[in-house]
Amino acid sequence: MSDTVLVTGATGTVSSEVVKALAGRGVTVRAGVRSADKAADLRALDPAVQPVELDYTRPETVQAAFDGVNRVFLLTPFTVDQVAIGKQLIDAARQSGVQQVVLLSGAGADAQPGTQINHWHRAVEVYLAQSGLPYTVLRPSGFMQNFLTYNGDSIRQQNAFYLAIGEGRVNYIDVRDIAAVAATVLTTPVSAHQDQIYTLTGPTAVSSQEVAAALSAATGRTISYVAVPEEAAAQALTQAPDWMRTSLLELYRLYKNDGAAWVTPTVAELIQRPPHSIGQFAQDYREQFAAS
Ligand SMILES: NC(=O)c1ccc[n+]([C@@H]2O[C@H](COP(=O)([O-])OP(=O)(O)OC[C@H]3O[C@@H](n4cnc5c(N)ncnc54)[C@H](OP(=O)(O)O)[C@@H]3O)[C@@H](O)[C@H]2O)c1
Repeated sequence: MSDTVLVTGATGTVSSEVVKALAGRGVTVRAGVRSADKAADLRALDPAVQPVELDYTRPETVQAAFDGVNRVFLLTPFTVDQVAIGKQLIDAARQSGVQQVVLLSGAGADAQPGTQINHWHRAVEVYLAQSGLPYTVLRPSGFMQNFLTYNGDSIRQQNAFYLAIGEGRVNYIDVRDIAAVAATVLTTPVSAHQDQIYTLTGPTAVSSQEVAAALSAATGRTISYVAVPEEAAAQALTQAPDWMRTSLLELYRLYKNDGAAWVTPTVAELIQRPPHSIGQFAQDYREQFAAS
């Protein structure tokens, strides 16, 4: 019988790509969605995908979603209760006898002194390691797709994106490459990647000027990077909760100081092809950056 793989957060940026990457790989994909009305898009993606209701605030849905599951792609949302959610999902995996957990963490999760968000990722990693479940941890760098999710509106409407990272270079990764790695790990024997931690980055670290050039070339418009001072970024985040403002400002500081200007060869080693460049990302997503 084929494995049943539960993908948590299946409507999100990373997990929706994991669902796609698992299609046609001989496993049954169970896609965890917060509410049933979100299932239609996933079914359209692949009729063989089985959406399952999975709402972390309703524990009865959590245990039901894990019933009969062999392997799990576990992603915690960017929320203040992400550690509690991670632990809740790991407990459910253990109770239902899951044979493999692939956890989405973050690059530098164990760096010192580190950032708040990475301390939270590390807490979930440690809980998973102590659970006794066979696991693989994926620690991706910043997503190229952040230019759509966080900066997409200003790119489409003003032909510009604003960041407080100066001339810092960043090892952005395309989430399709994270998904390809996850699908590989979830469809090869568990022992092949058991208890491994993989740090995943794009092929090179790029400056924001290079990102702007890639977006300009792909869209045929001039898209500019506007470097803003940290105080302005903090001001723009005054409505955000404290933990989120702190996390984002810490990240911008790290980026500005070239703290994410390194790369690893791991994606290519695991999937036998190079990760997408920022230029390829911009080309592939150019319609989503179209002016509005
Ligand atoms: N962005 C980056 O550059 C970056 C880099 C490294 C690591 N990460 C890590 O990546 C993770 C975020 O991934 P992402 O961008 O793919 O997230 P995302 O697009 O925000 O998706 C989050 C998913 O979780 C679901 N969800 C949220 N709260 C839920 C709840 N209470 N019950 C059930 N489902 C719930 C969402 O469902 P709905 O669609 O219903 O809301 C969605 O499917 C975080 O752990 C972050 O730290 C991000």
